[in-house]
Amino acid sequence: MNFQTQPVCAEPKLCMDNYLPKIGRRAIVNQILAGLCCKKKYISSMFFYDAEGSKLFEAITHLPEYYPTRTEMGLIDEVARQIGPQLEDTDIVEIGSGDCSKISILIEMIPEHVRNSIRYIPVDVCQAAIEDSASILSGKFPRINIHGVVADFISQIDLIPKGKKRLFCLFGSTIGNFSRNQAAEFFVHLGKTMQPGDQLLLGIDRVKKIPILEKAYNDSQGVTQEFNRNILKVVNYLTGTDFDPTAFEHLAFYNSIHDRIEMHLKASKDMAISCPHTKSPITIGKGETIHTENSHKFKDKHIENLSHNSDLTVQNILTDPNNWFSLVHFVK
Ligand code: SAH
Ligand code: AVI
Repeated sequence: MNFQTQPVCAEPKLCMDNYLPKIGRRAIVNQILAGLCCKKKYISSMFFYDAEGSKLFEAITHLPEYYPTRTEMGLIDEVARQIGPQLEDTDIVEIGSGDCSKISILIEMIPEHVRNSIRYIPVDVCQAAIEDSASILSGKFPRINIHGVVADFISQIDLIPKGKKRLFCLFGSTIGNFSRNQAAEFFVHLGKTMQPGDQLLLGIDRVKKIPILEKAYNDSQGVTQEFNRNILKVVNYLTGTDFDPTAFEHLAFYNSIHDRIEMHLKASKDMAISCPHTKSPITIGKGETIHTENSHKFKDKHIENLSHNSDLTVQNILTDPNNWFSLVHFVK
């Protein structure tokens, strides 16, 4: 997350808008403190993704236990072969873009003469991730137009550039990090911002055997633990608190009632966390947890519920042979 940078247009083919300052630093601080001062403490998973958190997530995607990335990449390859040649003059909007490994698969499948007519619009809360991705992509595809948008995809989706036909991509099952209600609302809102003929590729992680799911969030190298603890460093940076991330244990388990992996940070001792914005320190008892992420998993009924209230129609659902991950192709 970066609240300082102003819009920059470095060269005609690479442009960046940062809309985060519109949200305001104070509102962000209030949002974090509201979660830390309530009975069941929580921090929004959006705060995982500073430059370090984005790098740690990228490392997670390469872990043997973290099956979603490699499984989805196979499905993107399949769909890209079908739709790549038809993307003439299209804006490809990737929401929660992260690194460029998935979009590269799609762009690779667009014939060169068509590729030069498209514009890639990565939308992410992490400016460093967009900059790194743009730099790699413009090395790979020198004539590609890129317009980065640093924004909160929940509250600022209307700020995404309009005007051309658009292909939206929301990969990685990032929609699973919303609550079911938030996901439904987001989906309706996204559907409304789309124009007739626009398309959406939505990656979703499916419900499967619990040990496979739990291993993916408890990797043997401890990268997910580091990712989870890093959120406290981001909170320290944004709010001036003095959390010691190493005083918290990483917890990740499957909640079968809600069909989701939950991640928490469990305090290993009693703590009083100082904060310049609160009258007294934030107290945390030994064993108390801070809820940092939900990663909802999907059944067919969840996909049906998502599309039910929106203006979008399912064109195709691609699923891997293990039935672990689906890529849903919607059209408006
Ligand atoms: N799509 C990529 C990255 C997924 S990680 C993949 O499939 O591998 C989730 C991404 O969403 C991160 O890059 C993170 O910075 C971004 N993100 C999380 N919350 C966000 C928010 N509220 N607004 C914008 N981007 C957000
Ligand atoms: C980005 N998001 C879909 C990941 C997930 O699986 O929920 C984030 C993540 N958290 C721990 N590992 C990966």
